[in-house]
Amino acid sequence: MRSVQEKAALQGLLRPPFTVRAQVITPLSAGGTRHLPDALVEIDRAGKLARVEAWPADSPGLAEGGVVDLRPMVVLPGLVDLHAHLPQLPNAGLGAGLDLLTWLQRYIFPLERGFNADAARRLAPLVFRSLAAAGTTTALLYGAVFEDSLDASFAAAEEHGIRLVLGKVMMDRLRYDDSIGDKEVLDASLAQSQRLIERWHGRDGGRLRYAVTPRFAVSCTFEMLRESAALAAATGAYWQTHLAEDRHEIEEVARLFPDAIDYTDVYDKAGGLGPRTILAHCVHLSDREVARLAETQTRVAHCPASNFFLSSGAMPLARYLEAGIVVGLGSDVAAGPELSIFAGMRAGAYIQSGVHTMLRDERPRLKPLDWLRLGSYEGARVLGIEQEVGSLEAGKEADFILVDPSVTAPVGRGALDQATDDPSDIISRLMYRTRDEMIRGAWVRGRRLAT
Ligand code: GUN
Ligand code: ZN
Repeated sequence: MRSVQEKAALQGLLRPPFTVRAQVITPLSAGGTRHLPDALVEIDRAGKLARVEAWPADSPGLAEGGVVDLRPMVVLPGLVDLHAHLPQLPNAGLGAGLDLLTWLQRYIFPLERGFNADAARRLAPLVFRSLAAAGTTTALLYGAVFEDSLDASFAAAEEHGIRLVLGKVMMDRLRYDDSIGDKEVLDASLAQSQRLIERWHGRDGGRLRYAVTPRFAVSCTFEMLRESAALAAATGAYWQTHLAEDRHEIEEVARLFPDAIDYTDVYDKAGGLGPRTILAHCVHLSDREVARLAETQTRVAHCPASNFFLSSGAMPLARYLEAGIVVGLGSDVAAGPELSIFAGMRAGAYIQSGVHTMLRDERPRLKPLDWLRLGSYEGARVLGIEQEVGSLEAGKEADFILVDPSVTAPVGRGALDQATDDPSDIISRLMYRTRDEMIRGAWVRGRRLAT
């Protein structure tokens, strides 16, 4: 069911309330996965899931009028992207073969330097539509350093409807903004972040939130890290930064912070660890650091495609999960070459295969339905919003995507792909034969997002 017929069906699903009939695959809060080959999904006036259940055998009233039949398409929870850089999208795919610090200097800092309010007004709406088109309904993003570009980006998200956590990048050394002197930059950056929190954190019933965003220890003095962590703690905003992505970066941090035990200890001493902190990458961590992240309930954004692209290394996911760390997935565009979290699952699975076969790691391996959980429910858990979104369960907000598994990328020129009813194989196809066109729509609180 596509084209004219599908368009007409989806026209009725722009705003809640509505009810659809479709296949459902979802992780459950209590663990495990629910697969309903023929399901009723009712979204109430407030944009919440009123019912997610097997299609009732005896339902003459339902079958007629009021229900949009989307079979054989699949309804999945909206995906959660825990790490990407909004101003960097134009650079996606450029600069392969460089290490992180060289890539940042050559490609990224010049790009972010141009991300003023006008650039944000042009780019941000496209970024939010692109995220929705890739199946992402919740995103945790980094902006650039300019306050007015953050206002423009938040305003675009408010209009678009995506669920967004965003922060102004803070840097008080190795920085690209020379409009303020070195001495003033710490105070200015804190004041700007504070104002942005006041304007945007918690807006629209919590759909928009703020993350205090010191870039990483190479770009921040200890004072910047400490004061930014204090600001997040005082306001209830998140705190996000990068940790242990690349070997040269780690050496640089050791040189800049000679008194720290290791890279994690720099953030620990600054008061940055805790359940509202999201650390991207965490590729190279010692047992001590893993234990400390687990102990403080600090959250991790795993960005496998980016780690491949910049040859950063292979994050040992199973080891972190075994330690009890809450981990979700990030695209990390532009170091990650694409926004799709399905593509992120694929890259994660390849890295996992490498870790398990080459390093002979015997820990349990994630299977397709586990990757779906990581890209949805666990992502919500990283942000502490798993009571509201991340799975399709009655009472939660209606953040979901509609997927047509029959339009995944074909393996050959003809219709060679064997169809499947098995939920694990459906997700496997979506992960390994990802194609933009397979995502037929994305909704937040029952409101259809522009793609
Ligand atoms: N570390 C500090 N800044 C960045 C960035 O923009 N991208 C990535 N991948 N790592 C970083
Ligand atoms: Zn990043």
